[in-house]
Amino acid sequence: MKPSLYKISVIGAGAVGATLAQRLFESGFADVVLLDVVKNIARGKALDLMDAAPIMGTEKSIVGTDDYKDIRDSDIVVITAGLPRKPGMTREDLISKNAAIVKDVSSKIKIHAPEAIVIVVTNPLDIMTYLAYKATGFNRNRVVGMAGALDGSRFIALIADELKVRRDLIKTYVMGSHGDTMVPIISQTFVNGRLLSSVIPKDKIESIVKRTCDRGAEIVSLLGTGSAYYSPSAAVLKMVKAMMDDAGDVVTASFYLNGEYGLKDICMGVPCRFDRRGVIDVMKLELSNEEKELFSRSAVAVKSSIDLI
Ligand code: APR
Repeated sequence: MKPSLYKISVIGAGAVGATLAQRLFESGFADVVLLDVVKNIARGKALDLMDAAPIMGTEKSIVGTDDYKDIRDSDIVVITAGLPRKPGMTREDLISKNAAIVKDVSSKIKIHAPEAIVIVVTNPLDIMTYLAYKATGFNRNRVVGMAGALDGSRFIALIADELKVRRDLIKTYVMGSHGDTMVPIISQTFVNGRLLSSVIPKDKIESIVKRTCDRGAEIVSLLGTGSAYYSPSAAVLKMVKAMMDDAGDVVTASFYLNGEYGLKDICMGVPCRFDRRGVIDVMKLELSNEEKELFSRSAVAVKSSIDLI
């Protein structure tokens, strides 16, 4: 039995990492360690967050550091270290630089937090999750990537906006790669218990799917520098909650497949059941033929990127 106190380390104190540290710390979920390779940046941000703790009403601790010894005994380590996209770049364009960073960070997690669950956020997501799985050598249930939780949230937000309905009435799964070939599972998308396809015409669904796929790039081009961070950090929080709840909550995440959905030796977004040990099961959804085809195409795209590293 693990103790009820949780320790979560966030590697990379940039836009995603610092916002995630804030969400975790202020939610009172866990003691937080924020680590960055740039000396003092994590320390400065951690002090700033600590100064707000009396106002935000948390008694947890937050430590900023550039020393991996401080991540010792973490229950969860989140990797956000790496470059974000610039306008016009795909997530895949980041591959070589971020691969070197994720490899380095993973080898340090292996040494300093060998029992932790690893959540990867660095892009291109499925490739970096694969790399972290290989570089840590951890059991596959302890290495996941944050993708479907974010893409699903984006899809739901756009559907709710279109239909003017409450967001919490919409249930969906977005599987496949966290990239242009992501696969919103329309056949399993429900609005207040009714199939999405019975409440929105096909062409409208297609345009919402396209906007979901393009949402990250839309935000990158509006920001000018950097990429999305509020919604990615919220999606990590959802995964952390699923683990801490310890009740088998299902969240779609990038996961190393060993035969599930007919795929092997690849990380792809699939609905995962979580508890405090990490992934305990992959949920088998009945996909339509078209969704199966799109999922296979997404796998081909991920495989070809994996071959590059
Ligand atoms: N170890 C620790 N931190 C590192 C390392 C490393 N080896 N290399 C880079 N970093 C740190 C940087 O110093 C920087 O503070 O990672 C941080 C990245 O922050 P940002 O540039 O603000 O990027 P961010 O928007 O947070 O995105 C990080 O998440 O969503 C993905 O595509 C995004 O790959 C990108 C990652």
